[in-house]
Amino acid sequence: MSFISYESTSEQGKSWTIVSPIYFRYKVVESQNLLEPGNDTLLTGHLRDPEQLDAFRSSTKPIKRFVVIDETVNQLYGPQVSSYFEARNVNYKILPLPTTEENKSMELVMKILQELHSFGISRHTEPIIAIGGGVCLDIVGFAASLYRRRTPYIRVPTTLLSYVDASVGAKTGVNFSQCKNKLGSYIPPVATFLDRSFIQTVPRRQISNGLAEMLKMALMKHKGLFELLERHGKFLLDTNFQSCNGLLDHGCVALMTSRIAIETMLEELAPNLWEDDLDRLVDFGHLISPELEMVVLPTLMHGEAVNIDMAYMTYVSNDRGFLTTAERNRIIQCMKNLELPVWHHDFSLNLVKKSLNERLKHSEGLQRMPLPTGVGTAEIFNDIDDEVLERSFKKWCEDLSTEE
Ligand SMILES: NC(=O)c1ccc[n+]([C@@H]2O[C@H](COP(=O)([O-])OP(=O)(O)OC[C@H]3O[C@@H](n4cnc5c(N)ncnc54)[C@H](O)[C@@H]3O)[C@@H](O)[C@H]2O)c1
Ligand SMILES: [Zn+2]
Repeated sequence: MSFISYESTSEQGKSWTIVSPIYFRYKVVESQNLLEPGNDTLLTGHLRDPEQLDAFRSSTKPIKRFVVIDETVNQLYGPQVSSYFEARNVNYKILPLPTTEENKSMELVMKILQELHSFGISRHTEPIIAIGGGVCLDIVGFAASLYRRRTPYIRVPTTLLSYVDASVGAKTGVNFSQCKNKLGSYIPPVATFLDRSFIQTVPRRQISNGLAEMLKMALMKHKGLFELLERHGKFLLDTNFQSCNGLLDHGCVALMTSRIAIETMLEELAPNLWEDDLDRLVDFGHLISPELEMVVLPTLMHGEAVNIDMAYMTYVSNDRGFLTTAERNRIIQCMKNLELPVWHHDFSLNLVKKSLNERLKHSEGLQRMPLPTGVGTAEIFNDIDDEVLERSFKKWCEDLSTEE
């Protein structure tokens, strides 16, 4: 890592230019039975090297942890979380909060900061732990990035969507002034611990919601993942990602699909942690959906809004000849099998144009529209004109408006 400082002198005086690359290192760790008292992961899984681990083990200082947990998750798993910390002799504080999309605001961030401040933790050795869905992880991450300018935090995702998506990147944030995630930071956690067993209590509709983000990665980057979702989507829905009953010759479909989704997501996110590169395949399904979400909240979930956007874009792609009609229909059928909505009456042509105009403002004047160019391959386009948007919209409505 290098640090460079340039000096120059003008008539008005000296100036210094500082180039100081910032380096992040964080772990995404699969762990079974995370809340079993014998499992060290929650307490030490974030440590980087053996020396840190030795220092932790030989320390006589009591261990302290501040935990923020989604209220519903607390009802389901709170006793196990407490038992874990009791058994490990940890001085802990558990703060259950109603971390829903409607409450995803600065007020909850302030509440966390107040409680954190009164409890007190060491910024160097006592990471904050967030346990919940994407909303909880985003709010806690934001609070952590503010407290003492940057306090380390750990993510424990408990919904499918947060398991495959919110858990792997660096983004934190809250909604502000009717805009989604308008306030936030790019500060990754020190670690994310993935325990698929939390997903067993997630309602079926929420599983579909998470499958939408997995389908996004499949359509953009991984034909194999698409085929697995196409073949085993119903099984995954029926079994809440818990069962590995010999559906595949060589492994567990729940494990394989979630792992591929995470790996493809990491491939895209890791080199572009601060989203400086505006050409992003992970934006597929996220061009129109944020506006739709703000209009229809709370009737549609994030992944559902994303899927409606992806369904429309599949028609755009077909209109431009990037996808055959058979491929287009195959994708829409897969969405339906995953029990995802493929059309919505509030997704109007006006909304499409408004969102794309907004996008031009925030993406240096280019559309940067990711579109599938086959099943599992994609490119970014900047020349999708109004005629294509209108014709695709008409066809999309003709074919799918009865699906609502
Ligand atoms: N930071 C990122 O990179 C990133 C990526 C994708 C999405 N997000 C954000 O994530 C949010 C959506 O996340 P989400 O879908 O997890 O929603 P969510 O956090 O609102 O959780 C959905 C619901 O599931 C409940 N729940 C959570 N875990 C449960 C469990 N194990 N069993 C039963 N119920 C459970 C919660 O109480 C909540 O009511 C959005 O705000 C989105 O902006 C962030
Ligand atoms: Zn998303």
